[in-house]
Amino acid sequence: MSTINFTLNNEKITYKGNPSARLLDVLRSELNLTGAKCGCKQGECGACSVIVDDNLINSCLVAMGSLDGSTVTTIEGYNKTKRFESLDNAYESVSAVQCGFCIPGMILASECLLAKNPTPTEQEIRTGISGNLCRCTGYNAIVKAIGIASETISQETAPVPHHAQSQTKTNYEPTTLKEALKLRTNLELTPYAGGTDLMVEDKPEVKYLFLNKVAEMRNIVEDEKYIRIGAACTFTEIINHKLTPEILKEACKQIGAPAIQNAGTPGGNIANASPKADSALIFMVTNSMLRLASATKERTIPIKDFYLGGGKTALAKDELIIEILMPKHGLENYYYEKIGARNALSIARTSFAGILEISDGTIKNCAVAFGAVIDVIIRFDEIDEMMIGKTIEEAKAIKHKYLSAYEEAIKPRRGRVGIEYRKDICMNLLNAFLESNGI
Ligand code: FES
Ligand code: FES
Repeated sequence: MSTINFTLNNEKITYKGNPSARLLDVLRSELNLTGAKCGCKQGECGACSVIVDDNLINSCLVAMGSLDGSTVTTIEGYNKTKRFESLDNAYESVSAVQCGFCIPGMILASECLLAKNPTPTEQEIRTGISGNLCRCTGYNAIVKAIGIASETISQETAPVPHHAQSQTKTNYEPTTLKEALKLRTNLELTPYAGGTDLMVEDKPEVKYLFLNKVAEMRNIVEDEKYIRIGAACTFTEIINHKLTPEILKEACKQIGAPAIQNAGTPGGNIANASPKADSALIFMVTNSMLRLASATKERTIPIKDFYLGGGKTALAKDELIIEILMPKHGLENYYYEKIGARNALSIARTSFAGILEISDGTIKNCAVAFGAVIDVIIRFDEIDEMMIGKTIEEAKAIKHKYLSAYEEAIKPRRGRVGIEYRKDICMNLLNAFLESNGI
């Protein structure tokens, strides 16, 4: 049992209960706010959307303990605003509401989009609502309605009023790294940064160590060699940061829909040891380093040494991932592809990233990585070394040997898609990467 203080629809709320409970369940069952609907409980339908601290969030993937000091707006609070009236009128004017089940989430997605981008293009509107499914496929009318609303809503003043509240600490919601590491050492807690993976499993008995408010884990800074990315930064923060290299921005933009990007973090993406982790693929191909710390010591290791296979990692029981150190130089010439079922679905069926750095006519660095093929992200630097020191012409001459080495080394496992299909995709992507570089 914890005490969590937050602002809900402009009212100060004190929730006393299980900090691992889902926000969606608490809203619907305990607070009688049923506007947020339960569609999938996996972050895929957007029916449960709410606004947390100005960001669109899937309430099914939020644990109550992460909300202390936050501001939450549901459709019941938003529909009392002037801005709601504009959206409501616009939706009504083009009959954009058919079933109503998806509409509360759709309206809040529309608000978040228009608050950040008052004059969106049609494509931006479609991206803004890409995580909100309309099962009766009324998208065209909805897109039209948001376009109409953008003309009226932009003339109004402030968006939904948010009143942040001073933070009252719960047991497991540290605000400093020191406190976080102490809790990690002393208690059996599961690190929770964005919750987008953890909350898919319904495990209210798990005790979380909430890291989303640890300031030292929310920075993006640079030193001489590295861009240092805090493990608890959200993907949206990474996408919007000026220091983020393009290759990482591109991969983060393809991590699910806006509500997932607003909550998911690279720390979680790396720690869950999934071979499908989109940001981890980029950290692997760029030979990034991980800064790990416990209450008593610190170490920085190459990310490839972090993964031990079979879902295991080198993270000690008392350690946390604090930062990812991404090399600053040599990342401009990259190739990235993610094959998935649909753009706003976060799970890759196969993904590929390649980097080729050419200096004075010779290849200085060649690195490729494949995701979602076996139980770890594939990265064979010994094969890539074949290309290093070669001119493009020389690389062309050994291309066959290089491809054959990968053909032999990649042994896909059967998953949602077949082995041959996955192998063909890998080889096609590798070939496309080489061809894009004239090899
Ligand atoms: Fe579907 Fe939350 S219920 S995204
Ligand atoms: Fe709700 Fe289409 S209007 S599913």
